[in-house]
Amino acid sequence: MPGATPQKIIIDTDPGIDDAMAVHQAFADPRLEVIGLTTIFGNVTATRATRNALHLAEMAGHPAVIAGGAPVPLRRAPEPAADFVHGPEGFGSLPAPAPDRSADPRSAARYLCESCAAAPGEIIICAVGPLTNLAAALAHDPSIASHARRVVVMGGSAARHGNVTDCAEANIWNDPDAADLVFAADWDVTMVGLDVTEKTRCNPQDFATLAARSPDIGGFLQAATEFYFDFHEAKLGERVCFMHDPSAILAITDPHLFGFETMPISVICDGSEIGRTVTGGEGRRDVSVAMRVDSQAARARFMEVVAAADDHVAARQRNGNAQDTMTGG
Ligand code: BDR
Ligand code: CA
Repeated sequence: MPGATPQKIIIDTDPGIDDAMAVHQAFADPRLEVIGLTTIFGNVTATRATRNALHLAEMAGHPAVIAGGAPVPLRRAPEPAADFVHGPEGFGSLPAPAPDRSADPRSAARYLCESCAAAPGEIIICAVGPLTNLAAALAHDPSIASHARRVVVMGGSAARHGNVTDCAEANIWNDPDAADLVFAADWDVTMVGLDVTEKTRCNPQDFATLAARSPDIGGFLQAATEFYFDFHEAKLGERVCFMHDPSAILAITDPHLFGFETMPISVICDGSEIGRTVTGGEGRRDVSVAMRVDSQAARARFMEVVAAADDHVAARQRNGNAQDTMTGG
């Protein structure tokens, strides 16, 4: 809606190729004001996630605060980073970036709590990595549950199997205890899981189009996604990639593209089905679960937004690296 006040958002992320897609999408969407990026282990180590987040903000000339988060899960040893999906440094075959900017001195958990307390009811937390930082924030200051406007999680699956094991999706698998605490807390949670994220797919031509339209950001995404296409092609026999993390951003900006159902969600934290999201949980508040998506419209919207990414970078540069004057962003 042109002229509407952009929605404030903090993205908790483990960049990661589809994380990079989602972050640049959010930076380029005038309907969002990205306040900060908090980082988490998962696709890469926490140190690399912070470095990569700084690089994403720097290449977009975006003033978002970057706050480094948890290096390991709450209560168990970490799984190895997913370098076979996202490459050794997180952006496919691209070399390690060396950003000039530095991270905020606060931990991700503290930054999340302080930001939400300073703007009660305004900030959406969109988590597209393991949920350790959100659980740590709930422990650091439980009032974040009432201060955050809502929480949107890319993770889990209500009606489908997993993508790490038969039962578990990667973000939940990486810290099931934290995920269960996040779904149990008394805040407004939306779950955008494999039920919809595997239905929305991009192909290499999409990224060629983005690179032609926005050579810097689109060109970066085109180069990074080559590795992601290799992974998906080996798995699916088709040169496409799932739009996991961009779908969580789309669920905020374009909820009409999704069909939601409400149900409480719990996470299995032990045994052979560890990491599985299941319906139910005594006394739990309902979670809004994305069950259906208009996948062609979702992909088209992602393309439309990211195609304008370089225009937003130029607008920020004109404005001295302050908030994008093309509105939002
Ligand atoms: C999720 O796991 C990560 O590999 C992706 O970035 C996404 O957040 C998909 O299961
Ligand atoms: Ca991710």
